[in-house]
Amino acid sequence: MHMIDIHSHILPFMDDGAADWEAALAMAKDAHADGITTVIATPHHANGQYMNSGPGIRQAVELMNERLHQNNIPLQVLPGQEIRVYGDLLYDLEQGELLSLAGSRYMLLEMPSSRIPRNMAEVCHELVIQGFVPVIAHPERNAEVASDPSRLESLMELGVLGQVTAQSLAGAFGSKLQKLSLELCRRNLVHVIASDAHDCAHRPFGLSEAHAFLDKELGAEANDYFRRNAQHIVANSAIIPGDYTRVHTKRHKIFGFFSRKG
Ligand SMILES: [Fe+2]
Repeated sequence: MHMIDIHSHILPFMDDGAADWEAALAMAKDAHADGITTVIATPHHANGQYMNSGPGIRQAVELMNERLHQNNIPLQVLPGQEIRVYGDLLYDLEQGELLSLAGSRYMLLEMPSSRIPRNMAEVCHELVIQGFVPVIAHPERNAEVASDPSRLESLMELGVLGQVTAQSLAGAFGSKLQKLSLELCRRNLVHVIASDAHDCAHRPFGLSEAHAFLDKELGAEANDYFRRNAQHIVANSAIIPGDYTRVHTKRHKIFGFFSRKG
């Protein structure tokens, strides 16, 4: 099945992702080999190191797609941005500096790794009022979430979604992070898997591996739910959080019924 990746650093010369065109095209080939058809490019913005405003990203995406076409690499790249939650976020949104994911209602937000920002709920609430759906990038890598995953619940109640990183789930960052990632999937505190790919070697795409792991651990319905949600984001259609939890619960009941009969 074809896959969509909603979080990547494939664009060259923007951040700590692809260093140049050669690296970007090598990443594109890897994405295609992994079964990915569409990648949303999400350069870091306002994370204290990199500033990449919307218009510059759009331009780079156009150039990237031209290069892909010239090199016969069957991959589509769409514009996005990984936006650090910062003081001027709402003002910059108004100024047209920020991009949602592929022009949809979904917006990729990054928290610092050490803590949940004090104004996180307030910013998310305001974005929801404006019609956006904030998607928190890799909450499993946030120290406060790691020590208490329930901290995400109040954000989810505002209408926020979560994105777990493929490598976290596949175990590349250690078994502790893998367990936490799986727990967030189970508790419906994350809703989509994405690569957060930075290169071909250390931070690769690896979506198929993560999906295979999820399939093994939580079953095909759960895995489909996660894959469908990435498609919903690109199509700008609604994601119903917990959709899979209901299927999952139902499936357990069916198994319970059969085991009683047996
Ligand atoms: Fe990222």
